[in-house]
Amino acid sequence: QPTEIIYLFSAYLLGAVPFGLVIAKLTGAGDIRQRGSGNIGATNVLRTAGKKAGAATLALDMLKGAAMAGLGVWLFGAESVVTIAGALLVFVGHCYPIYLRFRGGKGVATALGVFLAWTPWVGVITAVIWLASAKLFRISSLAAILAFIPLPLVAHFFGNPAAVVGGAMITPWILWKHRANIIRIIHGEEPRIGQKA
Ligand code: G3P
Repeated sequence: QPTEIIYLFSAYLLGAVPFGLVIAKLTGAGDIRQRGSGNIGATNVLRTAGKKAGAATLALDMLKGAAMAGLGVWLFGAESVVTIAGALLVFVGHCYPIYLRFRGGKGVATALGVFLAWTPWVGVITAVIWLASAKLFRISSLAAILAFIPLPLVAHFFGNPAAVVGGAMITPWILWKHRANIIRIIHGEEPRIGQKA
């Protein structure tokens, strides 16, 4: 069906828009792929371009995830296979953007936006764990890891079967994307939130 196909292409192409890279460039911080962790996400924008730029990146990366998941829910329903595929594709777009030779971010903000719009309680619970862990440990990657590990289970109790499927794919993917962070955390070398690069 054309609607499904257009929706799925849009999910990937919007997910692939690297807001962090563009915002950091606009603020004069240069190419963030060459600075800090080299990641294009909000954490590295905060590290290299400051608080406002970091907050704007977080908001826009979340928004693109929320917009596409919300559109999926609206057009096809929260439990549709098409919505699962759209949720995955906006996340995949962020992690493997065609505009950047498929070298993108780690998907945390985008996935959070996806679950907030798809199954709000799951999104809220994940966001609360994320914020609490960030406050407690002051390490962004650790907060993301701790927030997303329980997500499939949280989706089982507070979401719907489609979101459990989505979570079961997105959570391991986020962990894999953080493999370098995990090694740094183990070695005690992961920078704290707000530490300048
Ligand atoms: O969302 C990415 C964050 O969890 C870690 O970012 O720049 O510290 O690798 P970064």
